[in-house]
Amino acid sequence: VAVPLIVDTDPGIDDAFALALAATHPNADLLAVTTTFGNVPLDVTTDNAQRILTLLNRLDVPLGQGSAQPLVHPVPASAAHVHGVDGLGGRAHDFAEVGRPVHDNAHDVMVRALDAATRPVVIVAIGPLTNLAVVLASRPDLVGKIGRLVVMGGAVSVPGNVTPVAEFNILCDPEAARRVLAAENVPVTLVPLDLTHQCTVDEDWLDHLARAGSTAGVLTHARETYLRYYEQSLGIRAVPIHDAIAMLAALEPKLFSGTPLHLDVDTSAGVSRGAIVADRRRHSPVYPGRPVDVATDTDPEMVRKALFSTISSLP
Ligand code: RIB
Ligand code: CA
Repeated sequence: VAVPLIVDTDPGIDDAFALALAATHPNADLLAVTTTFGNVPLDVTTDNAQRILTLLNRLDVPLGQGSAQPLVHPVPASAAHVHGVDGLGGRAHDFAEVGRPVHDNAHDVMVRALDAATRPVVIVAIGPLTNLAVVLASRPDLVGKIGRLVVMGGAVSVPGNVTPVAEFNILCDPEAARRVLAAENVPVTLVPLDLTHQCTVDEDWLDHLARAGSTAGVLTHARETYLRYYEQSLGIRAVPIHDAIAMLAALEPKLFSGTPLHLDVDTSAGVSRGAIVADRRRHSPVYPGRPVDVATDTDPEMVRKALFSTISSLP
């Protein structure tokens, strides 16, 4: 039975791959897409969400525009050097033109979808967590409609990608991340860099996917920007399509195994701001609240095959 999905996103090259999975995977019943600031400013992420849904022929999916800013402190980092100024590797125009401006806001779109849902909804958050923090704080009555949050973010036992300890989505709004990951009761699966960096795809994989169909071709157009960034940052010409792996964890959870960990998020202004602090010690947890299921293991080849087979099935 298909999983009712809401995707909260800051497109973003890897977000585009994740949305392609959400729009076409047999296990996905895509209820709504909401946008947030993140890789690029909100007006650009929202335009990109429209372009991507148009390319995927899914303008039937409600789209809502969310937060332009984090809850408390200013945006600490841009990812334009990773995703390009247009957020899609300089190839935004290849996806589709932007149709009518988005009038709905993310809060209303998410609340409407949750209200109407007849089965528990999986919310896949693949950008900063500001929108989710606001919805959960303002509509606690809807928590019962959410089966699980699957969050791409954090670096638990590996270095961060913005600072030595902080990953981009969490660092963009640590206060929101702390609310969603540590203060709320809704079940959470966290897909951190620990996992996404295990499942990189290389140039051959991307070239092979590019030839699989016109949509796959457009999605992989932006690969040069992405490959170049990771060649500099990881020293390999291979990219972790972070958000697509998080989406796969929502759609094919059996591919992944995790560890329940009590964790907290550093919301200080210090050097470790945005760090996820997970308590792996065996004694009783010092952090209050429910543990988070941190996805730590998978078979990378199975992940690459699942990504390839779904995206190559696009027209
Ligand atoms: O750190 C990776 C995350 O930051 C991904 O969601 C990517 O799209 C960026 O938002
Ligand atoms: Ca993202």
